[in-house]
Amino acid sequence: MATRHVWRLAKRPVGDIADSDLTYVEEAIPELQDGQFLVQVGYLSLDPTNRIWMSDMEQYMPPVELGDPMRGGVVGRVLASRKPGVEAGQLMAGLGEWASHIVSTGEGMGPFPELPGISIPQAFGTFGVVGPTAYFGMKDIGQPKAGETLVVSAAAGGVGQVVGQIGKIHGCKVIGIAGGPEKCRYIVEELGFDHAIDYKSEDVGAALDRLAPEGIDINFEHVGGQIMSDVISRMKIFGRIALCGMISGYNATDAHEEPGRWTLILMRRLTIRGFILTDFAPRFPEAFQQLAQWMMEGKLKTRQDIRPGLDKAVEHVKLLYSGGNFGKLLVEVSKL
Ligand SMILES: NC(=O)c1ccc[n+]([C@@H]2O[C@H](COP(=O)([O-])OP(=O)(O)OC[C@H]3O[C@@H](n4cnc5c(N)ncnc54)[C@H](OP(=O)(O)O)[C@@H]3O)[C@@H](O)[C@H]2O)c1
Repeated sequence: MATRHVWRLAKRPVGDIADSDLTYVEEAIPELQDGQFLVQVGYLSLDPTNRIWMSDMEQYMPPVELGDPMRGGVVGRVLASRKPGVEAGQLMAGLGEWASHIVSTGEGMGPFPELPGISIPQAFGTFGVVGPTAYFGMKDIGQPKAGETLVVSAAAGGVGQVVGQIGKIHGCKVIGIAGGPEKCRYIVEELGFDHAIDYKSEDVGAALDRLAPEGIDINFEHVGGQIMSDVISRMKIFGRIALCGMISGYNATDAHEEPGRWTLILMRRLTIRGFILTDFAPRFPEAFQQLAQWMMEGKLKTRQDIRPGLDKAVEHVKLLYSGGNFGKLLVEVSKL
């Protein structure tokens, strides 16, 4: 009997994710029914939102139920199919499970292109989640214009690295906030950001006063808390805030709301929009096309942090909340 390995949610984490919150099991792969296909997973995307899905807080899709396979983005190859239009050998990607094999009806999954000159993990790590998130957040909310000042937090991470490069493509002055000298060096020297602020060793507010005395037009927010507060208080009139993530609060045990800066938002006439990538699903082809073109023109680089071993997925996902990842975090589940 064919078997698979899968992580199932055993408990809802309290604070940081604990090893015992998920269990790693080997189980039989169910026989394929009409309309289903079997995928061997190659890469699993680990994302900060995994912690949100493990909780039962108010969120943008149903939480993972206790006992269910952990949800995650995957790319893999079809091993067998009883679904018309899906062939063995084809690459598929989308929302799947933290598993070695997935039986799917195709809901939330679609064909994934093999792009000449771009490896599968690089393509998946760029076009899967982070690139489109950066693209739509910048295009629809940030609306960058030449000469404007953009500040992005978690700047050396999956989304942040793309956001800053989109800002440079549009002629912005780009300031990235990241943890540690190596990440700060990377975003300036390798990605072409104008400045980096190491929030672990610098006073972010003082550094912004020095690097952006003119004020900030666009804040692409990933962190929340004090970093967001330091940025917001330096926004210009008619500034835009693309509220993409608030990772500093994802492991919080007290159900707190960030304090509003409503008077400042009014006086500076700021636009703030929270957004979730899935809202843009009908426009994904637009993002893929533009991001791929920038890559081929040498204007967009992305870094992946690929960790081996599905059995270590829980260890790996914790890296996101301590800054232990450097680039888009993927698990190599099998060689594709
Ligand atoms: N809205 C959407 O549809 C959407 C889609 C994808 C991602 N997101 C959000 O975008 C953000 C980045 O996601 P990503 O996938 O690109 O992850 P990532 O940036 O590759 O990894 C997370 C990074 O966040 C930083 N971080 C973690 N805890 C922090 C803290 N307490 N204070 C400051 N920085 C902290 C760390 O970088 P340092 O080493 O620099 O601290 C860490 O490497 C997250 O907030 C995520 O929830 C939103």
